[in-house]
Amino acid sequence: MNKKLLVFVSKIPGWLSTAEGSFLEQSTKKTARLEGTVVEIGSFCGKSTIWLAQGKNKVYAIDPHKGNVGEDEKYPPTYKTFIKNLQTANVRTSVVPLVKTSEEAATKWNKKIKVLFIDGLHDEKNAGRDFELWSKHVVNGGVIAIHDSFKKWCGSEKTAIKMIINSPHFYKIGAVGSIVYGIKGRGTMLQRLQKSFYRIVLLIAIYLNRLKITFFHFPKIIKTQLTVSVLINLITL
Ligand SMILES: C[S@@+](CC[C@H](N)C(=O)[O-])C[C@H]1O[C@@H](n2cnc3c(N)ncnc32)[C@H](O)[C@@H]1O
Repeated sequence: MNKKLLVFVSKIPGWLSTAEGSFLEQSTKKTARLEGTVVEIGSFCGKSTIWLAQGKNKVYAIDPHKGNVGEDEKYPPTYKTFIKNLQTANVRTSVVPLVKTSEEAATKWNKKIKVLFIDGLHDEKNAGRDFELWSKHVVNGGVIAIHDSFKKWCGSEKTAIKMIINSPHFYKIGAVGSIVYGIKGRGTMLQRLQKSFYRIVLLIAIYLNRLKITFFHFPKIIKTQLTVSVLINLITL
């Protein structure tokens, strides 16, 4: 993403950080060789959609756009702002908006998916259901990423632990900001070993986060080692 677009995207209302957006862009670029499309559940005003569209893939953006972000959080309808933002970012033609709930969109879905980004309703029932409905379409080598997986009040965290971190169906797992991601497939023996290491790191990070102890409180040496290890994991995405 170029600087001018980055400045524009940073001003779009939403909860996605630049690091998280950049991860989404990389995921779509690194899976370019795979068959399948990109699917986003929960687009809001288009911040994450624009990042996902940087890979020049078609992005199916699912959102009823009623401004319902959770039980206690309501916003005005977002569809018009969403489309306007896509146009300004010059990605309107790459995005197929599906103005429906994820459940409605899933009933007729029959395409393969290479990148699935889950960022719809964050309670355990809805986040878990989104995973169940959509993850089965993701091809081997494809990426599933769940936003807000480091928030103890949040069902997305439980879904990420159960469905990605503790699941045998991903040969590679990791985190960027509050995104937990997994790459689907069996992988090599070495990749599975690496995954076991990251599983422990991520579970520790999540439990420390519950105690309000974050990465920033760690001693410098551990911070450096973890940063290097996370960077290696990302570079080999
Ligand atoms: C946290 S926001 C998404 C933020 C967006 N990904 C971004 O980066 O700005 C959650 C979105 O999920 C949408 N949503 C609510 N219920 C949904 C459902 N059943 N299926 C899909 N999306 C839903 C809301 O309309 C809202 O726009």
